[in-house]
Amino acid sequence: MPTRKKPSAANPLWGARFAAAPDAVMARINASIEVDRRMALEDIAGSRAHCTMLMRRRIVSRADGRRILAGLDRIERELRAGRFCFSAALEDIHMNVEARLAALIGKPAGRLHTARSRNDQVATDFKLWVRGALDRLMADLAALARALLDQAGRHAATVMPGFTHLQLAQPVTFGHHLLAYVEMLLRDLDRARAARARSDESPLGAGALAGTSFPIDRRATARALGFARPAANSLDAVSDRDFALDYLATAAIVMVHLSRLAEELVLWVTPQFGLVRLSDAYTTGSSMMPQKRNPDAAELVRGKAGRVFGGLLGLLTVLKGLPLTYSKDMQEDKPPVFDAADTLDLALAAMTGMVRDLKADARRMRAAAGQGFATATDLADWAVQALNIPFREAHHIAGRAVAAAERKGVDLAQLSLAELRAIDRRIDARVFARLTVERAVASRDSEGGTAPVRVRTAVREARRRLKALAS
Ligand code: ARG
Repeated sequence: MPTRKKPSAANPLWGARFAAAPDAVMARINASIEVDRRMALEDIAGSRAHCTMLMRRRIVSRADGRRILAGLDRIERELRAGRFCFSAALEDIHMNVEARLAALIGKPAGRLHTARSRNDQVATDFKLWVRGALDRLMADLAALARALLDQAGRHAATVMPGFTHLQLAQPVTFGHHLLAYVEMLLRDLDRARAARARSDESPLGAGALAGTSFPIDRRATARALGFARPAANSLDAVSDRDFALDYLATAAIVMVHLSRLAEELVLWVTPQFGLVRLSDAYTTGSSMMPQKRNPDAAELVRGKAGRVFGGLLGLLTVLKGLPLTYSKDMQEDKPPVFDAADTLDLALAAMTGMVRDLKADARRMRAAAGQGFATATDLADWAVQALNIPFREAHHIAGRAVAAAERKGVDLAQLSLAELRAIDRRIDARVFARLTVERAVASRDSEGGTAPVRVRTAVREARRRLKALAS
């Protein structure tokens, strides 16, 4: 007679029809506890809502239900105190909690999983976790936006070089430049809010895939967990990971924005640009070259964008070939989301610190803004307005003035009136007033433009919009 392994060697929760325990490799590839233990509190919340509903619907007796709820309370206290013992043999967070409940209260623990599957359970836990992550993301985005707004208000009239193609284009104000990032963050906030609103349907009660024969109340569990309503289709409820994709897509776009700002900081703090100075708190030294001040935090924010993009692409790829409904592939959904959340958390905190502390070098900014004939457009605009000539003709005149200044090795404003008149004799002395960088930025007072008056109103407007989005 073949020897039978003791049933206790197999999984205590699902091992009844198995004669032998899983191979060590099988156990290792299957276990997710090291990852999904982060959803322990969500798992408890889901079980509490489920148990309460089972009691109300008389699917579980009041006595057993009370014991289960008391056990869950105790497990929550153990978790919060860091006293909960996680076991890889129990695969995942759901079975770890259930096994602990059985150890604490005995037989009634087995009634908790009535009318529930790990499939609707994990979808519910994970969705709750992602909703919490979205709330934290929104708060962090708002904090960075506020730091940018404070600097923008301070530097509404600070002139700096504006670039296209990373070539000096036209003078702008530093406040205006920072407000461009505020716009990105306001869109990010809006995206996070929309993602939160789309994740308002509770998977709980979908069962393994088809629903259940027990008279459950999905509206009650949805409500208890803060969802607006139950997910409409049980098959979709257990297969849907759009909420995770939404989170990762939002996170990826946030990281694009942070990375671009990080790149600008890296450029600006070089001695060659020298436009801003980061605080010592956000700068590192070199172990070899004593003069160095490296913008490591900015470089790391730029570099960490890659892992968030990778996470998004990774999960898209995991899901793209899966038939309905649940497949174990889906267990791979959590690492990229948790990693993105940790990365965002750190990147936003670092960026907020850098922005809050940074000092603009207004003198160097102004000097850099005046180099490279940055007011050539202003010369052309003046010619259009004062001489009533077409812009194309004015552009030609300004271009010749730039060539003359370049030959002479001076800036546009340093050309003499005679030299300008040699290019076009209609030019008169009024033009010089237009060629300073201050005048150049002040004149660009069109809606959304860089003029200090516009920037001051834009800061107020953006604060109002931020309040509306962040509340
Ligand atoms: N640990 C699993 C996961 O994260 C839980 C769901 C398991 N469901 C199943 N039918 N084996 O996806």
